[in-house]
Amino acid sequence: MKKILVNLGDRSYDVLIGKGIISRLPKLLKGIVGTPKVLLITSQSINRLYGKQIAKLLKGSRFEVTVCLLPEGETAKAERQLFRIYSTALKAGLDRFSGMVALGGGAVGDVAGFAASTYLRGVAFINIPTTLLAQVDSAIGGKTAINLKEAKNLVGTFYQPRLVLSDIDLITSLPKREYLSSIGEIIKYGVIASPSLFRYLENNASGLLKRKPAVLEKVIAESSLIKAKVVEMDERELTGFRAILNYGHTFGHAYEKVAGYGALRHGEAVAVGMCEAARLAEKKMLLKPLDRIRIENLVEKLQLPTTTGKRSLSPRLLREAMMKDKKKKGKEVRYILPIRIGKVIPVAIDPYSLF
Ligand SMILES: NC(=O)c1ccc[n+]([C@@H]2O[C@H](COP(=O)([O-])OP(=O)(O)OC[C@H]3O[C@@H](n4cnc5c(N)ncnc54)[C@H](O)[C@@H]3O)[C@@H](O)[C@H]2O)c1
Ligand SMILES: [Zn+2]
Repeated sequence: MKKILVNLGDRSYDVLIGKGIISRLPKLLKGIVGTPKVLLITSQSINRLYGKQIAKLLKGSRFEVTVCLLPEGETAKAERQLFRIYSTALKAGLDRFSGMVALGGGAVGDVAGFAASTYLRGVAFINIPTTLLAQVDSAIGGKTAINLKEAKNLVGTFYQPRLVLSDIDLITSLPKREYLSSIGEIIKYGVIASPSLFRYLENNASGLLKRKPAVLEKVIAESSLIKAKVVEMDERELTGFRAILNYGHTFGHAYEKVAGYGALRHGEAVAVGMCEAARLAEKKMLLKPLDRIRIENLVEKLQLPTTTGKRSLSPRLLREAMMKDKKKKGKEVRYILPIRIGKVIPVAIDPYSLF
């Protein structure tokens, strides 16, 4: 097992990564909550796969567990679901010293974190991520959110969990495409902050594709550490430092939007976005051709796309999508570009000069 401390003063917490570590949950939870009442927030399919066993494990340690089932995926991040969590918690008698436990992907984690941050002005939140994306990214850092019909993630809070438990046994059931697309974010961590993680990925691509536990434990721990360090530097996205996590995302979000949500998975769009940002950096003489080639090769080796392929995405729509990006500064958009493996910088560019 690996343990990473997210060091945020009195909001510090551990991220635990390992195989089979879910068995430690009852003991860990006892150190966090002050009452036996816990609300387990998950979805139907994840409840069937893991939730029932986890509830049993907790009940065996005299916890009183109430389960709140949310719809699968993004539909969980809705106002109606948030209010269902509140009323389930209320009915179950959760008080200020009780805990809410999220068991699921980023969607369940985002809405459960929001609920925990606002129910009775905040109760202890424990996150058990079940997707690779949630383990390396969304479970760490304290961003919570729901979607409004106008836009995604429009309403939310910054609220750190008290514990993140990333058990690699829980991601064995992930469908292949879901699993692969999350690897995009792991490559991102290598490019933005860690030449050694990047090299490890180059050398262990096949182990990662085969979901070898030792490889998974290493890459999830390294990724979690980088995310933790970035969050420690800029917890509330105020200094601009957290923006390095957007590498590949300005292009990626535009591809996702223009291709139509669902056509390209988030991680796939980010993979193309990282390659495009590397090509742009090379064009601007910021990145050596060899490093651009290494990025493209690694993306390809991990079975992710390096271009949008045969999809003909309208340049006008892509430009418009990028101009709407939150990171816009006047007419220019701030792109995070690599200058070598392990280092990125923000560069303001007019998207009209790109297409
Ligand atoms: N808070 C943050 O900092 C942050 C960061 C990145 C992304 N996000 C959010 O995370 C969400 C995406 O998260 P995601 O990629 O984990 O997707 P997700 O939560 O939508 O889950 C994807 C699908 O996988 C299923 N699933 C989950 N775990 C499974 C398992 N172990 N086995 C089989 N199926 C499983 C889910 O039921 C769902 O259908 C988005 O809403 C995004 O906005 C948040
Ligand atoms: Zn992302």
